[in-house]
Amino acid sequence: MNASARHVGVFDSGVGGLSVLRALRTELPGVRFTYLADSLHAPYGERSADWVANRSQAIVRWLRQVHRIDALVVACNTATALAIDGLRATHADLPIVGVEPAIKPAAELSASGQVGVLATRGTLGSERYRALRQRLEAAATRPLHIHDQPCDGLAGAIERGDAEAIGRLGNQHVGSVRQAMPALDTLVLGCTHYPFAIEVLQQAAGPAVRLVDTGEAVARRTRQVLQLATAEAGQAPQAESALLTTGEPEALTAAAHRWLGWQQPAQRVVVPDLG
Ligand code: DGL
Repeated sequence: MNASARHVGVFDSGVGGLSVLRALRTELPGVRFTYLADSLHAPYGERSADWVANRSQAIVRWLRQVHRIDALVVACNTATALAIDGLRATHADLPIVGVEPAIKPAAELSASGQVGVLATRGTLGSERYRALRQRLEAAATRPLHIHDQPCDGLAGAIERGDAEAIGRLGNQHVGSVRQAMPALDTLVLGCTHYPFAIEVLQQAAGPAVRLVDTGEAVARRTRQVLQLATAEAGQAPQAESALLTTGEPEALTAAAHRWLGWQQPAQRVVVPDLG
């Protein structure tokens, strides 16, 4: 990919994908990003598979038509799980990178072989996740136990910035994993919203449990897919990156400032559903 083709669209149901954007901007400082938070429709995690697939198609069509992106990062585990195959089929000419729960690296890191996965119901119930898990279990050379924990309500609480609910739900869901796994030592953050609740989750899990996030791995993968050399990745982008939301711009502006130190006002946009 040459220097004139460095405009990457990134989307999530809401503010969670900022955890991926943070890693992308560190790994690829010369790339222009257009981030879309579909906050009007967040959370995605408890919606139907068809709904998530259709909405993801509508978003990508819009990002291409209106913003002329030339690569895409699906910064949402739920949308990756339920929509990425369809997106790749519809947009065969567009490089697309997705995000999946990091169960493979977690299994390698775990000494006890007891790994918990925090994710949405949509991700954990998907065919794609089931296949990923089955492949890993089939290849395991030592006992491996994976406990899937659907974290109903947690992404929504993070989206709203509701500290009381984040604390309560974080404790409840991590508590369920600990109860199921006495020797738990590794916990996968399988939703891009969860890194923004990391203090609560780490405290609930205890200091002996390592939390595994995917942002940096996705950023490295994006660099490979874009085939950018170090020098080119570091060149100044030709145009400013943008923060767009279908919800309240103030919420996205504040989240990007708090979590990325990025002082840029977000803009409200309308992304029509598929006709
Ligand atoms: N951040 C998304 C994910 O990684 C979706 C959370 C949600 O909207 O439920 O799964």
